[in-house]
Amino acid sequence: MRNKILVWDLPTRLFHWMLAASFIGAFLTAESEYWRAIHVALGYTVIGLIAFRLIWGVVGTRYARFSSFAFGPSKVLVYVKSLVNRTPQHYVGHNPAGSWVIYGLLVLGLLSGATGYAVYNEIGGDWFEELHEGAANMMLGLVGVHVAGVLVSSLLHRENLVRSMIDGYKWGEPGQGIRRMRWLVGIGLIFGVAALWSKLI
Ligand code: HEM
Repeated sequence: MRNKILVWDLPTRLFHWMLAASFIGAFLTAESEYWRAIHVALGYTVIGLIAFRLIWGVVGTRYARFSSFAFGPSKVLVYVKSLVNRTPQHYVGHNPAGSWVIYGLLVLGLLSGATGYAVYNEIGGDWFEELHEGAANMMLGLVGVHVAGVLVSSLLHRENLVRSMIDGYKWGEPGQGIRRMRWLVGIGLIFGVAALWSKLI
């Protein structure tokens, strides 16, 4: 079990940290007229990144695929019980509880982005504004749950999950790792985001 194996390909990690930065940036710039163009650009970036992730969840590497973290409620319950009993089940990819939070973040990210687009383009009424703010606040709450979950699992598994989202490596059996980093797709993702920003700003 104490082998370092590659689990997260480069596009998944770049997606993660760019999504985290875009969401936090959009949240911090939400109230100010002065930062409005940046807020809107960050919102489009959130939508673009999640659109990429939806495709990568189908065609990406083993642990990036949605099929590798599609868990039913009973699996989530068993996993949470194992945490409470301090005998945590180890997953090489996303664990069942974390997976549900991840799906929630993806849905709320899309909802925040789509309602933000509607508000900015004066589509719909005031209630879109309420929905936009509500979705973003719920997302912030879920990010808190996500980060707390990552820290608790890291402690219980004695595995630095934050570092694994940076370098891509986790503990596992040699045959369980992915073989390719997918450098070209990662570089393409950076160029895609840069191209989006060059059009928006
Ligand atoms: C400093 C803050 C954060 C840390 C330390 C962190 C850490 C992590 C880690 C370690 C994972 C992998 C979990 C696992 O092993 O199963 C993960 C996954 C994920 N995180 Fe975060 N995260 C942070 C902030 C955020 C934010 C702000 C968002 C969304 C706005 C976010 C969205 C996600 C998503 C969508 C995934 C799934 C990645 C994928 O499969 O594409 N995270 N995060």
